[in-house]
Amino acid sequence: MKRIQFDRYGEASEMYMGDYELPQLKSNEVKIKVRAAAINPLDWKQRKGALKLFMSNRFPKGIGNDFSGIVEAVGKEVNNVRIGDEVFGTMDVKHPGAFAEALITPAGYISKKPSQISFSEASCLPIPCATAWAALFIKGNISKRSRVLINGCMGAVGAMAVQLARSKGAFVAGTCSENDMERAKDLGLNAVFNYADKNYWKNIKPFDLVFDTSGLMEPAIGFSMLNPKGKFVDINPTPKRMLRGLFSGKYRMTFATAGMSHLTEFADIAVKESLKAGIAKEIGFSEAIDIITKIEKGEKVKGRVVIRF
Ligand SMILES: NC(=O)c1ccc[n+]([C@@H]2O[C@H](COP(=O)([O-])OP(=O)(O)OC[C@H]3O[C@@H](n4cnc5c(N)ncnc54)[C@H](OP(=O)(O)O)[C@@H]3O)[C@@H](O)[C@H]2O)c1
Repeated sequence: MKRIQFDRYGEASEMYMGDYELPQLKSNEVKIKVRAAAINPLDWKQRKGALKLFMSNRFPKGIGNDFSGIVEAVGKEVNNVRIGDEVFGTMDVKHPGAFAEALITPAGYISKKPSQISFSEASCLPIPCATAWAALFIKGNISKRSRVLINGCMGAVGAMAVQLARSKGAFVAGTCSENDMERAKDLGLNAVFNYADKNYWKNIKPFDLVFDTSGLMEPAIGFSMLNPKGKFVDINPTPKRMLRGLFSGKYRMTFATAGMSHLTEFADIAVKESLKAGIAKEIGFSEAIDIITKIEKGEKVKGRVVIRF
C-alpha cells in the first residue's frame, strides 16, 4: 500500500509517496482502510523532529494523525469496534501514518463514526476537539457561568473550542484576523476581536479562562484579562512561556492526549450540536505533499484541508 513517509527528520522535501507493508496487528490494535485524513500542524512538527523523544527510532516513518475510515481487521482483545464499522480517530504519537491508504492504530484511539457526519467531517475532530476539551474542561474547568476568551478562535483548535464552550452555555469571546471576522460571527461567538488590534484587551470585563491556541499571546497580557481565580491555558510549549507560567500560578499547559479518551463524546456533540468542521477544501492523495508543504510554509487556507482516499 502507499503512504506518505520520510527517511530522516527534516523539511518538507523529506516527504515522499512510498510503498509500505503494515506490520502484524497486535492484540489491542485495529487495521483501518483510510477514507479521509485531516492535516494538523502536529504532522509537520513530527516530521521536523520536534517530538523525536516520544517517537519510535524506526525509519521510514509515516506522517499524519487524524483520520476516518472503515475497520478491516481487529486484534484479539478489541471489543469497541468490529470489521466493517465506520470509525474515526488518531494515531499513537510514536507511530504517525494516517496519510496512507491503510493504517494500524490502538483501538483506544478510535470511535465509531456517526452516520450523520461525513468521513471528511469526522477526520477533523480528534486532535482539535481533544485539545480544546483538555483546555476548557480539564485545565480550565469551565461551566455555563464561565466567561472564556479563545485567542486564535478560527484555527482548527480554536473553532472547536468556541463550539464546545458554547455548547456548555459559556460566554465565549474570540480573536481572529480581519479576514476571518465574518466566519467567526457565524460560529456563535458572543464577541469577536481582531488580534491585530493591540488595545482590544484593555478595559475588558475579566475572563475565567483565556485559552491561547496560537502560542503568540504574551502571557502577561493574558493574565491581565483574568479574574483573580482565572486560568491562562497554553498548548504551544516553549521554555520561555513555560518558565513565565511557572511563577504565575495562573498558567496551565495541556496537550491533545489529555482529551483523547473523549472521542465518543465528540461524535455525540458533533451530531447534537451540528459541530462545524470548517472544511476549506478536500484534496486527492496525490496532491497531499504539495498542499502540506504550502500550508507548512504559511499559505493561508480558510479552514481545514482534508485528504480523501
Ligand atoms: N499541545 C497540543 O497537544 C496541541 C494540539 C493541537 C495543536 N497544537 C498547536 O496549537 C497551534 C494551533 O493549532 P491549530 O491546529 O488550531 O492551527 P491553525 O488551524 O493553523 O490555527 C492557528 C490560528 O491562529 C491564528 N493566529 C495567527 N496569528 C495569531 C495571533 N497573533 N494572535 C491570535 N491568533 C493568531 C491563525 O489566524 P490567521 O491564519 O487568520 O492568521 C489561525 O486561525 C499549532 O501551533 C499547533 O501545533 C498543540
